[in-house]
Amino acid sequence: MTYEVCIATMASHTALQILKAAKKAGFRTTAIATPRVESFYRRFSFIDKLIPTQPDEIDKLAPQLVEENTVFVPHGSFVEYCGPRKAESFEVPFFGTRGLIAVEAFQESKMQLLREAGIPTPEEYESAETAKPPVIVKFGGAKGGRGYFIASDRKTLLERLANAPKNVIIQQYLVGVPAYIHYFASPLENRVELFGADIRYESNIDGRVLGFAEPSFTVVGNRPLVLRESLLPLLTEYGEAFANAVERKLGQRMIGPFCLEAIIDEEMKVRVFEFSGRIVAGTNVYMGVGSPYSVLYFDRPMDMGERIALEIKKAVERNALEMVTT
Ligand SMILES: Nc1ncnc2c1ncn2[C@@H]1O[C@H](COP(=O)(O)OP(=O)(O)O)[C@@H](O)[C@H]1O
Ligand SMILES: [Mg+2]
Repeated sequence: MTYEVCIATMASHTALQILKAAKKAGFRTTAIATPRVESFYRRFSFIDKLIPTQPDEIDKLAPQLVEENTVFVPHGSFVEYCGPRKAESFEVPFFGTRGLIAVEAFQESKMQLLREAGIPTPEEYESAETAKPPVIVKFGGAKGGRGYFIASDRKTLLERLANAPKNVIIQQYLVGVPAYIHYFASPLENRVELFGADIRYESNIDGRVLGFAEPSFTVVGNRPLVLRESLLPLLTEYGEAFANAVERKLGQRMIGPFCLEAIIDEEMKVRVFEFSGRIVAGTNVYMGVGSPYSVLYFDRPMDMGERIALEIKKAVERNALEMVTT
């Protein structure tokens, strides 16, 4: 069965799983690719149409995509390449909660939404004088944590802040293991599904640094993570609390994939230092094989791309696409 709707995304990040699953579900598929990656994405038969473009010209494609009855799936690279303002105003129906792009663009509003949800977050300090090291210092607009630094004592903090931009967040450095928890908010099933988890494989944290480089957070890949079952009830509550806070604060429903990025300490305390309001690249760890938790909701394993395609397919069948797009 072929659906008239077309599913499109930008050729990067999680495009392979999104478009592969969309094709399998019977949709037409479009990839918007920068010239550099075009030939790579042309290899795959599940991509019906490839539109080469520069990210800063993506808005020019909107009329054509709308004409072709497109649902666009936004992801982290789309927002990063286009910039939050251009991404937010891209006039093609998004599968997802558009209003979150602006919230996520600023450290302050991002952390504020997590606090509004009642989810535990790291302490934040007004100044170096009141900070209790160890701390991590974050800059607005940093990409992938580049330039962030960790200070284990006040002297180091003061020294490094002297050479840092003015607009920084001084945050408690959480000691524990990182865990990136993936969720899927389904407006049609009216539930938030705990879907999977991953750990990032970060260059100068996980690499063979041998003391030559200071810790940095450049993501090179992702590794799968299965959590202790005893953590699942609490993590489900946090996912639901987040979706509720989005609805309360933004007046828009949480739609589709999102991720809570946490550090879990030795007392099993979960604290969330960031969220992603869209599909995260960590879901690629179960591309093609299905996430471990998807079988709890469905009778077959599903990856996140398939979960997205299923929701859009059901929405089309119920003539309710507006329930899953913004
Ligand atoms: N409060 C914290 N305590 C410990 N580690 C942290 C904390 N905040 C961030 N990190 C680490 O730094 C990385 C980058 O931080 P994050 O805020 O996610 O930056 P970005 O917005 O660039 O993704 C995280 O993936 C995590 O490993
Ligand atoms: Mg992050």
